[in-house]
Formats: sequence, C-alpha cells, structure tokens
Amino acid sequence: MANDTSELAMTHQITIEGGAAFSIAAEEDTLLRGALRAGIALPHECSVGGCGACRFDLLSGLVESIWPEAPGLSERDRKRGKHLACQSRLLGDCTIRVRCDEAYRPVVSPGRWPAVLLARRELTPDMSEFTFRIQAPAEFRPGQYALLYPPHTPGARAYSMSNLPNEDGIWKFVIRRVPGGAGSNALFDHVEIGQSIMLDGPYGHAYLRDDNARDIVCIAGGSGLAPMLAVARGALSENRVGRVHFFYGGRSQPDLGAMAALEDLVADSRFALSVVLSAPAPALGWQGPTGFVHAEVERVLATPLDHFEFYFAGPPPMIEAVQTLLMHTHHVPFEQMHFDRFV
Ligand SMILES: Cc1cc2nc3c(=O)[nH]c(=O)nc-3n(C[C@H](O)[C@H](O)[C@H](O)COP(=O)(O)OP(=O)(O)OC[C@H]3O[C@@H](n4cnc5c(N)ncnc54)[C@H](O)[C@@H]3O)c2cc1C
Ligand code: FES
Repeated sequence: MANDTSELAMTHQITIEGGAAFSIAAEEDTLLRGALRAGIALPHECSVGGCGACRFDLLSGLVESIWPEAPGLSERDRKRGKHLACQSRLLGDCTIRVRCDEAYRPVVSPGRWPAVLLARRELTPDMSEFTFRIQAPAEFRPGQYALLYPPHTPGARAYSMSNLPNEDGIWKFVIRRVPGGAGSNALFDHVEIGQSIMLDGPYGHAYLRDDNARDIVCIAGGSGLAPMLAVARGALSENRVGRVHFFYGGRSQPDLGAMAALEDLVADSRFALSVVLSAPAPALGWQGPTGFVHAEVERVLATPLDHFEFYFAGPPPMIEAVQTLLMHTHHVPFEQMHFDRFV
C-alpha cells in the first residue's frame, strides 16, 4: 500500500479539456515530452522553444517555464497567458486546452538514455559527424531528430540523425558549430570520446514515408544535411523503385568537405547529386552552379514538381524559399512536403 501511494505521488495527472486524461512522471522535464511518451498527439515541431507550435492554455494547475524568454511565444501570447508545452515543467495536476492532431502522434515512442560519444569525424571547418551509442536498439524513422543535453548548457538542443535505425544503439549526427552558440560549442569542446550525455528521442514528423512510390527529392541547406542523409539512405536501402534527387546548398568551398558524408550514396546509380554554393570564394575556384539551393532544384528538375515527394531541412529562410517555390509556384500538395526548420 505504501508503494502504491509513493508511485501515485510520483506522477502528475493531465486532463485535456474535452479530450484525453493521462499521467506524466514527475521527473519529466517538460509537459510535451511527457505527453508524447504517453502517446498523446500534442502539437509540436522543434521541441526547443523556437517555433510556437506547442502553445497551450492552462485552465487549472501550475507549471513553470524552464525558458521564460523562449522566442516561440510572442508578447501577445504572453499577455494572453499562453504557455509552450516544450518549455513547461509540471508542478502538479493540470487541466489544459489544446487541439490534439493525429499528425503529431509519435510514430516511435521517445525514450531517454545516457549516450556515450564513440567518435567524432571532422567534415568541414565547422561541421563534424558525432557518433553516440546507447545501451538499447536505436529506434527511429529516417529524418527524425533527437534532443541532446550538452554539458553546462541550459535546455536541450535538437539534432537530426544521419544514419539508419539499428540494433547496435548507434545514433549519428552531423553538427555545425554555431559561432557563439552555447550548445553546439559545448558538444565540440566539452564532450570527450568515452563521455556520456543525455539523449532523448526520437521526435519529428519529417520522416521517410513508406506509403508512396514517387521519386524522392532531398534538399539540404548547411547542417540540414543530416536528416537528408538518413532519408536518402532509408529510401535506397528499402530498394524503392525510382531515384533520389539530392540537393546540397553550401556557402563556400570549405562546405564541400561535407560531401565525404555522402560516399556510400554516390555509388548508387539511383542517387543523383547536385551541389550549389551561394557565395564561393573567387580565389578558390568553383566550376559548379552558384546561387540558392531552391533555385537549383527548379533548374535541375525539369519534370512537373508535383510528381515528387519532397524532404527538406535547414535554416528557416531556406525552408520558406523552398515552400514558396513548391506550393505557390508549382502547386505541390502540402502532403508531399516533409521538412524541419532548424530554428
Ligand atoms: C528539428 C531540428 C533539427 C535540427 N537538426 C540539426 C542538425 O542535424 N545539425 C545541426 O547542426 N543543427 C541542427 N539543428 C539546430 C540546433 O538544434 C541548434 O539550434 C544549433 O546547434 C544552435 O545551438 P547552439 O546551442 O549552439 O546555439 P544557441 O543560440 O545557444 O541555442 C539555439 C537553440 O537552443 C535553444 N535554446 C537557446 N537557449 C535556450 C535555453 N535557455 N533553454 C532552452 N533552449 C534554449 C533555442 O531554441 C535554439 O534551438 C536542429 C534544430 C531543430 C529545431
Ligand atoms: S515545439 Fe515548442 S516551441 Fe517549437
């Protein structure tokens, strides 16, 4: 009986107005992660306070924000008493108002493990491939991301897996060192080989769909390379008919070092690679195309674009440019577009 009572005390009860009721372990760091682990279809996108997709109204109970200044809430949202589920730690039982949507139900239930850094391979002066291992099979869909908890850093950081799910517990990431960025610099400078950090995942909806036979287009801007590698690897390993058209947009010649991460893919005759640089250094020579990656997609793919299934990842301006191209100029249905904004 004493055990029953202590177990009850270790969870918080969440009720969604007009919807599900479920419990979340008290040690969960946020409402969003607890809800997704409970299989609830709570709206979300970035998981790190940047996009605002996880806003909810608190009708009763108490939460505290782990990042009160998170840009996912506007001043207007704050005045209206909105909260971000990905930044809200529960302080007791709560009733919330939020519109759940089947599209957000996790395809793989997220877990939380210590992950040991096995290797780090430099690809470009500011981008490296990190290989971590957990003591469980690595279960995720190609294109999804995980949350890493870099040392001495407030909050989690989202990084997309570049490899395929596997029984060996291996999670690979391609991470860019962001100038002045707390989390990415901590990963480069303060995680030694053999050291472990927390890994929570998988999350994200821009994963490889297995229910269509269209040719695939992958568009990667900078470190958006990681999830596109996984999507391309997944599509080719499943032996789908057709081709994978892969577009990589870098800034200048040093970014071409990232092509080392594509060695296994370029050997496949179904894989077509296009590389474009937005600001090549004249002194270093560049014979390839110059400009933005979305313009290269339109130039290279002659067929009507609504014949393809699109996956894309990168900085928000790139995502907006690709969306405008696909939806407004070429009328590609939204269901054929799967993307992650690296906010
Ligand atoms: C879905 C997704 C996938 C991504 N995949 C990749 C990838 O594969 N490779 C890659 O290089 N980058 C990826 N990013 C970007 C990455 O998550 C970081 O934003 C980037 O590395 C910069 O982090 P930083 O800590 O160096 O910079 P900072 O400026 O210190 O932090 C920026 C990020 O951390 C969050 N953040 C900042 N301060 C806090 C705080 N106090 N508490 C909580 N959160 C905070 C912000 O929302 C933002 O996401 C991805 C982003 C998203 C949303
Ligand atoms: S999912 Fe919470 S702000 Fe993006």
